[in-house]
Amino acid sequence: MSTSKKNAVSESEISVHWREEGSFIPSQAFIAQANLRDAAIFDRFSADHFPDCFTEYAELLHWERRWDQVLDTSNPPFWRWFTGGVLNASYNCIDRHLATLRNKAALHFVPEDEDEPVVHLTYQDLYVRVNELAAYLRFDLGLRKGDRVTLHLPMIPELPITMLACARLGLIHSQVFSGFSAKAVAERATDSQSRVLITADAYRRSGKLYDHKARADEAVELAAQMGHLIEQVLIWQRYPGHASSASPMVPGRDRVLGDELRAYRGRRVAPEPMEATDPLFLMYTSGTTGKPKGCQHSTGGYLAYAAGTARAVLDLQPQDVYWCMADIGWITGHSYIVYGPLALGASVVLFEGLPSHPDAGRPWRIARDLGVSIFYTSPTAIRALRRGGSDQPEKYDYSFKLMGTVGEPIEPEVWRWYFETVGKGQAVIIDTWWQTETGGVLTSTLPAIHPAKPGSTGPALPGIYPLLLDEQGREIPERSGRAANLCIRNPWPGIMQCIWNDPERFVDTYYGRFCRDRKSTDWRDWPYMAGDAATQDADGYIRILGRIDDVINVAGHRIGSKEIESAALTAPEVAEAAVVAVADPVKGRVPELYVSLKPGEQGSAALVARIGQIVIHEIGKIASPRHVWIVPDMPKTRSGKIMRRVLVALSEGRDPGDISTLANAEVVEEIRKLMG
Ligand code: PRX
Repeated sequence: MSTSKKNAVSESEISVHWREEGSFIPSQAFIAQANLRDAAIFDRFSADHFPDCFTEYAELLHWERRWDQVLDTSNPPFWRWFTGGVLNASYNCIDRHLATLRNKAALHFVPEDEDEPVVHLTYQDLYVRVNELAAYLRFDLGLRKGDRVTLHLPMIPELPITMLACARLGLIHSQVFSGFSAKAVAERATDSQSRVLITADAYRRSGKLYDHKARADEAVELAAQMGHLIEQVLIWQRYPGHASSASPMVPGRDRVLGDELRAYRGRRVAPEPMEATDPLFLMYTSGTTGKPKGCQHSTGGYLAYAAGTARAVLDLQPQDVYWCMADIGWITGHSYIVYGPLALGASVVLFEGLPSHPDAGRPWRIARDLGVSIFYTSPTAIRALRRGGSDQPEKYDYSFKLMGTVGEPIEPEVWRWYFETVGKGQAVIIDTWWQTETGGVLTSTLPAIHPAKPGSTGPALPGIYPLLLDEQGREIPERSGRAANLCIRNPWPGIMQCIWNDPERFVDTYYGRFCRDRKSTDWRDWPYMAGDAATQDADGYIRILGRIDDVINVAGHRIGSKEIESAALTAPEVAEAAVVAVADPVKGRVPELYVSLKPGEQGSAALVARIGQIVIHEIGKIASPRHVWIVPDMPKTRSGKIMRRVLVALSEGRDPGDISTLANAEVVEEIRKLMG
């Protein structure tokens, strides 16, 4: 790897230092069947052909009206793709398939409990259910194009059904990951001004039936405290006809969808004609400040990019059974469980539960029983399954043609287990790098064209032109192996349109640092800053080193350190809080929380437990710190900045290195002692 110029990325962010690995070449059998097996795609998507090359993706969709202009760059960085084009995402994911695929499975829903039967929904079933819900939302609730609707749904078929019903009407859905807290729901519903919340009464996870409705009650209350009224709460029952939540129904506010929809059986709603540039959904994600950002994605550009990349990267084909183990509450699920695959008419597996429940053989039984051919998951899930039963895959007769990973760097050792054991030495592996903001994959090998290299995501996809910039914004020579800020030179159709209601923050966050001239109307002056550090090897492959900002990647999920710190600060005893991301053998990184107390306050085991609980309550279990350390003081520079690098070293039991720049170097030893 690089002799990385230390000044290229800020302190301590380079988390992955693997040596370069050998390559894995796809089999002839795989190449022979692949969607894309000719490197000529890179000629068609060459810089000379930008932006028109992306019509190749747009043409995978049905347009009510074809676009007038492929890309309007007149108001950077608010790129407008396929302007003048009119389409509907729900029509593209459902109606247009009916002529040829009516009876094909769109979704295979696998409940967590193995005694519950798998539910197969055909494209026709999806059509019926989406229409009935859309009719209800329009005619009963009076929802109209452009209204925002917050969803807090677990992994049940009603989640994609609800998203597609919203899309049918032009409602902007904002799905909040079901593991997130009531507070997270309230904040997002308030930010997006959603007057309707759609949730479920319960879901199964790790063998338990969780009461989910109770969180909706709390969310409505918290939103009210934030000055926002959620007027209506719509509830899908996990077991239709049976209430699984103890929480009482609030008359006038709460409605059970199964009951309401009885009056809408057989109803159909014409898909709303949407401009390509109309927003399709919001997906909130963590940023450097405490407030999550509502990434706003477009209808035409996003859907074209999700479909085009699903075809190119995942190699989805009509005969495949495709399983992405992510939760639809994250962007991976939006783009590569719902929109991309369904736009292509694929058969998609939807799994409710925890992959390692009741044992680490569960995913492989699902793969065997459903004949899954394409599998997509995160390194954290792979590590957990390996730890839970590294010999399990061998016991099951299934066969993957392709396997993907996403969300965090994958260690070469884990990559090899994935390849040899899960993929039985046959499946092609892709390591896809992208973000909530980017809508779809930006760097990955094209599975039949490039060899795979463990620990490296691969070259940029067709039409994507990466750029590595140093701290001063100078371009690092291509393929030099030097670490720097990963940027993308050009806009692409999947890029988010804006941060909901906050265009200034959008410009500052992604373009502020490296824009050459804020007045420029030339897109070349506006590289997109991803917030990741990366290197590019001599062969053009990009390796992701990690975030350069205050975002922590826990088990492949983004959490802002400020979000956790603000939660901790709500404990009245806490004076200061600092979160660090610490290496973990399964989750990649986990948060550890350091707090110092106000004068006169005493630390105790009870306080430690309470602070941990506060974080879970404020954000959700995924943000739960592995340890809460109550320290006498934070290690600080003379200017008062907390030295997180030192805290990471302490958490990982390593030498913190040079601490001479600390104003209070003695505190390091004190902390080490109390950590035992
Ligand atoms: O740091 C990168 C990491 O995940 C971040 C994006 O997180 P999120 O918006 O939640 O989207 C995750 C799923 C698309 C990135 O800034 N990341 C994503 N994919 C990879 C990755 N790090 C290394 N390798 C990847 N393949």
